[in-house]
Amino acid sequence: MTSAGQAGRDRNISFIGPPKSGKTYAMCETRFYRMRSVYIDITDDPATLAPVSSPLLPPSSPGFIEQWAKSGAISSTALNDLSCHLTLHAGSLIDDPKELLRVCKTVTAAASGSPGRWTFYLDEVGALVQHGHKKLVEHFAAVARLGRQKGVSVCTGTHRPQEMPPAFRAVTEETWLTGCGNYADYEFVRRNMGGPELVEAVRQVSAYRAAAKTASVPEYPFVRKLHSGERKWSRKEGEPEWLVSSDGDWCVTEQVGGGRLGRRQ
Ligand SMILES: Nc1ncnc2c1ncn2[C@@H]1O[C@H](COP(=O)(O)OP(=O)(O)OP(=O)(O)O)[C@@H](O)[C@H]1O
Ligand SMILES: [Mg+2]
Repeated sequence: MTSAGQAGRDRNISFIGPPKSGKTYAMCETRFYRMRSVYIDITDDPATLAPVSSPLLPPSSPGFIEQWAKSGAISSTALNDLSCHLTLHAGSLIDDPKELLRVCKTVTAAASGSPGRWTFYLDEVGALVQHGHKKLVEHFAAVARLGRQKGVSVCTGTHRPQEMPPAFRAVTEETWLTGCGNYADYEFVRRNMGGPELVEAVRQVSAYRAAAKTASVPEYPFVRKLHSGERKWSRKEGEPEWLVSSDGDWCVTEQVGGGRLGRRQ
């Protein structure tokens, strides 16, 4: 098992796209691809994890989980010695940035000192900044930057690419784009993330989504873009240019759970 202090962690990923385009859904589903996760839920959204009154904790669980579960501030699922997925119910702290920051610092410190690879999920980054939680966002950007030694990574979600603070963008290894809301968003993607090819891919995905919705068979493909410089995908003969980049650094990816358009994750 990877232990605290041992090098190596999962990727820092950003989920970006307009409202109701499936960011939270994808974040919640993909948590289970990872070993240990904490989802900071500022909306107390029932689509995250249902609270459980007395989670069954395996003997090796970090002590803080039991303490927090008792207070109802945290709920858990899929707990065993290899996997542990927690939701921090933080809706009541939305108007108390200092307290939310204190709580999140406690949990990140506890997780960083516990065995296993941990991922923190911070959704609604743009809304958090607007609500006076800039320091919280900065805290998680630092966690994402320093997490390599401690086995900790951060996944973030927001509506517009320019809402993701530069400190986060600098340490994001991968972005999942579910779409762009307007011309300014496309322009930002073109200039800062991947040029006209990537913009065309996002446009095609948005058009496909709109057509699927009109036909009453909604589907949620997205564009997965790597920032690390590695090549990952190659275009097969006959595939359109907007499906996979010539450099292999982005790819139109099928919806979480499987869909008709895009490559498998
Ligand atoms: N892969 C998928 N399979 C099935 N349903 C999906 C999928 N992705 C998204 N959905 C559905 O689409 C709806 C909107 O998704 P979600 O709430 O995740 O969007 P969002 O981008 O987080 O929106 P907001 O920005 O408003 O928070 C949900 O009802 C969700 O169940
Ligand atoms: Mg959401």
